[in-house]
Amino acid sequence: MKDQLSDFIEIINNAKDVINGGWKTEHESVTIGCRPGASSGTDSLELIAAEILSCVKCNLSKTRHHPLPGTGVINPVVMFIGEGPEPDEDKTGESFVGRAGEYLDKWLDAIGLERNKNCFVGNIIKCRPPENRDPHPDEITACQPFLLRQLVLIKPTIIVTLGRFASQVICGSDEGIEKLRRRVHQYEGIPVVPTYHPSSVLRNKELRGAVWSDLKRVKELADEIGRRN
Ligand code: URA
Repeated sequence: MKDQLSDFIEIINNAKDVINGGWKTEHESVTIGCRPGASSGTDSLELIAAEILSCVKCNLSKTRHHPLPGTGVINPVVMFIGEGPEPDEDKTGESFVGRAGEYLDKWLDAIGLERNKNCFVGNIIKCRPPENRDPHPDEITACQPFLLRQLVLIKPTIIVTLGRFASQVICGSDEGIEKLRRRVHQYEGIPVVPTYHPSSVLRNKELRGAVWSDLKRVKELADEIGRRN
């Protein structure tokens, strides 16, 4: 019992370190996984981050190094939802820090967004699938409640889903990304713009035009809603 209690305290302290380590300036609200005070009823982003860091709900927990709760501000203009950690993220525990992340930052810059100022970046799957394989359906199902709880607390103005898996989960559809990205969807009243995953675009430059038109749509939506920052 004493061991269990100290394990639990360690998990909470680790989550706090992760959270506090992510704080930056501007809105006083940049964090890895959460902003203190962002809570609803008994749920909070700190609690979700602590649960993610200690999660053993699927087999990915056996091979991952660092689970990723996500990074960004509360009530962002855009919440970007990717697939899952790649090797750089698994190694560092930080969201979108590898090549895909650098490329994503260019997308944000192109439409006047900044990751730690008015965005949140998260994932469908919080732990890296080995060999970068696709996530399995049971892994997506096990992980999905974390993201859905985060969405309630983060309250983004617009959601951009990156790639097939994130788009299918959030749009509640089994259509492919080519079809899903042709229209704006809704998630609990929030507009959802599906687009290609940055890693896919790095592999296939022909997708760049499609992504650019999706990003322009995001900017138009933000302008219509009156949210620039
Ligand atoms: N790709 C993703 O989908 N998510 C990350 O966090 C990093 C790369």
